[in-house]
Amino acid sequence: MVARMRTAVVTGAGGGLGRAIAIELAGRGYAVAVSDIDGAAAAATAAAIGAGAEPSVLDVRDEAACRSLAAATVAGHGSLDLWVNNAGVLVTGLSWEQDEPTRASMLAINATGTINGTVAALGQMVPAGHGQVINVISLAGIVAAPGEVTYSASKHAAMAFTLGTLFDLRRAGHKGIGLSAVCPDGIWTPMLEDKLDDPDAAGSFSGHLLTPERVAREVGKLSERPRPVLVIPRWRGPVLRTFDLFPRLGLRLIPLVMWDARRRQRRYKRLIESGRWPK
Ligand SMILES: NC(=O)c1ccc[n+]([C@@H]2O[C@H](COP(=O)([O-])OP(=O)(O)OC[C@H]3O[C@@H](n4cnc5c(N)ncnc54)[C@H](O)[C@@H]3O)[C@@H](O)[C@H]2O)c1
Repeated sequence: MVARMRTAVVTGAGGGLGRAIAIELAGRGYAVAVSDIDGAAAAATAAAIGAGAEPSVLDVRDEAACRSLAAATVAGHGSLDLWVNNAGVLVTGLSWEQDEPTRASMLAINATGTINGTVAALGQMVPAGHGQVINVISLAGIVAAPGEVTYSASKHAAMAFTLGTLFDLRRAGHKGIGLSAVCPDGIWTPMLEDKLDDPDAAGSFSGHLLTPERVAREVGKLSERPRPVLVIPRWRGPVLRTFDLFPRLGLRLIPLVMWDARRRQRRYKRLIESGRWPK
């Protein structure tokens, strides 16, 4: 008997981290539905993967479209094994200076988009009793990130939805379904490429800047060994959570923390512009 290929859907896979995740999963033997709001970018990722990759246009704000893609994957391949909610947008700035459409768009794509993808995937996985959803959140989903506050709020919503839904899956007895939140530090993708001089984005450069390939490898491993929360790198989680635990201490430290973040951002700018990073 020929073994059935596992199937995965990746949202926002036209570029950045989503593209790297789609390539990683294809390398692990998944037939990958490469979806993005930008159809040409999705097609380019699928072409880079070759056989087994199917590009599609998907705006994660459209719940019905998410459900259609999940149903089409099952109809075409017999099952849906993995769904990665990766699509996201970041607009930095002071929340009270951002206009309403900017704030609404971050909440719609990062929070509601993640919810739409999760429920679309679960709509197929719960009756099948099997499957895994991986939601790409951010460190900004576990700590309030100064300068990226609306983004951070949208990621906190996605984080609560992910963990809460996992608790409810277990409460309802669905043991065969995994749901994970991935919280990476800053990643060198188009999301940050125009923000090397943006002081509001300094937090994204304040720790260990990651490559999309490194994060994609961790997501690949997570797909084999699910866990509720994966922070990359792990040590950043406990450090940042202290700001939530002790907000008055955070308030006092914030000028120093942001000064240091800006210093690191300038250092990454020098390394990147001189071709010394990434190696
Ligand atoms: N870059 C970072 O520093 C960083 C750090 C932590 C987490 N993340 C998260 O990783 C994920 C990927 O980000 P990235 O850095 O690759 O960003 P990116 O901007 O490089 O890529 C995002 C992709 O999402 C697509 N997209 C945008 N709106 C969409 C929509 N409505 N529907 C479907 N696709 C849409 C874009 O076309 C693009 O291909 C995001 O959820 C982001 O918040 C990024």
